[in-house]
Amino acid sequence: MWPPPFTTTAGTVRCGTEDKKSIRILSGDIVYAESPEKLTVLEQHYLIVRHGLVETICSVVPEEYKGIEVEEYGRNLIIPAFSDLHVHASQYAQRGVGMDLLLSDWLNQYTFPQEAKFADPDYAKQNYDAFVEDLIRHGTFHVNAFATIHRQAADYLFGRLEEKGLYAYVGKVNMDCHSPSYLIETTNKSLKETEKFLDEHQQAAGHVRSIIVPRFAPTCSEALLKGLGKLAARYQVGVHTHLVESKWEAAEALRLFPGYHSDAEIYERNGLMDNGPSVFAHVIFPTDEDIRILKKHRSIAVHCPDATANIIAGIMPLASMADSGIRIAAGSDIAGGHGIAVYRQIARAVQLSKLKELYEPEVGRTITLARAFYHATKEGGSLFGKVGSFEEGYHFNALVIRNMEDPWRRLSPGEQLERFCYTGDDRDILARYLDGEKIECP
Ligand code: GUN
Ligand code: FE
Repeated sequence: MWPPPFTTTAGTVRCGTEDKKSIRILSGDIVYAESPEKLTVLEQHYLIVRHGLVETICSVVPEEYKGIEVEEYGRNLIIPAFSDLHVHASQYAQRGVGMDLLLSDWLNQYTFPQEAKFADPDYAKQNYDAFVEDLIRHGTFHVNAFATIHRQAADYLFGRLEEKGLYAYVGKVNMDCHSPSYLIETTNKSLKETEKFLDEHQQAAGHVRSIIVPRFAPTCSEALLKGLGKLAARYQVGVHTHLVESKWEAAEALRLFPGYHSDAEIYERNGLMDNGPSVFAHVIFPTDEDIRILKKHRSIAVHCPDATANIIAGIMPLASMADSGIRIAAGSDIAGGHGIAVYRQIARAVQLSKLKELYEPEVGRTITLARAFYHATKEGGSLFGKVGSFEEGYHFNALVIRNMEDPWRRLSPGEQLERFCYTGDDRDILARYLDGEKIECP
């Protein structure tokens, strides 16, 4: 298996007095998901963090930690921060617009003109600053983002995420055919600029990494994909793209790549799935061959429920894909999706799974909130290493969510989490912790 890139430098340290400054203790109702089967709920427990990593969770603070002040959150929830595994940072200013179109028209009428604006560095800065702020505001601390074809703007996004301490993958987009003249590069330029991008960020010091982003098969030539495959091998990086996202896209991919038998094979045969993580957005109409290839490479399929309803008109067969062992994450897919909040995607994933079961019972099955939460926290987080859970050794990247009960009606912590996913917003996030440090809401 490809090793997770974000290893910790913190070792096991004894609890001497000089070391107590590196310890933090929070109390509250703790909720996380170790597996898709159920939530772990620890009411009125203490969560102990050392050097930014979860050390233990206990019902009574052990003697060795006595004297350390407890950050008391009472009956508020402490949950892991969210992971968004498919988002177009450049489409932030376009969210909630053009939602009555389907993919191809939406790309041509709204998205491509929007992305062309990133040739202007000032525009890019304004947009990317607002995007990163909104991620933090909504508790998304781990993100896998498309930029645009413009390398300098992609560099800025990379730097901004790093500056804020977020965990991220960023890719400069590649497209060299079937794209408007104002948003296209020659094959050669696309490869050269990608090489510069990978080179520039090879030694990145923070938690941001580069990834190769061919937009999708219909806008990439075989020569481009082959060249990107060589860069993937040279720089040991992975791939992030869209896969069998709509009936139109799935058919176009095979029409434009006649020697290939599935959309996934296009990336596999061109060497894009061997050198790092492979992350595929949507995966709504996978063939058996797509599934076989995704499994073989331990790829992640990203469920983006809002985008599915807005511009794609199809629903991922999540339950049957999970049954067949495919890793699944959640994505906002801004601006195919209209909102940046990953917690809302959790609710929407449950809603759509019911429609899938109703209309296609052979592949659809209603999923639980626990499963959807698991995909949006621990399973998606696995792209970045140990984030998205509160098991020992995980980075303490966490949110404190306001108690969601009505004063006259008690809810369990699990029910409160559910209510937050369906009805909550950023005002219900009382505190944010990143690598054990409390961070201000922008
Ligand atoms: N397929 C190709 N480009 C895009 C895009 O920008 N958004 C989505 N959702 N699908 C795409
Ligand atoms: Fe997308």
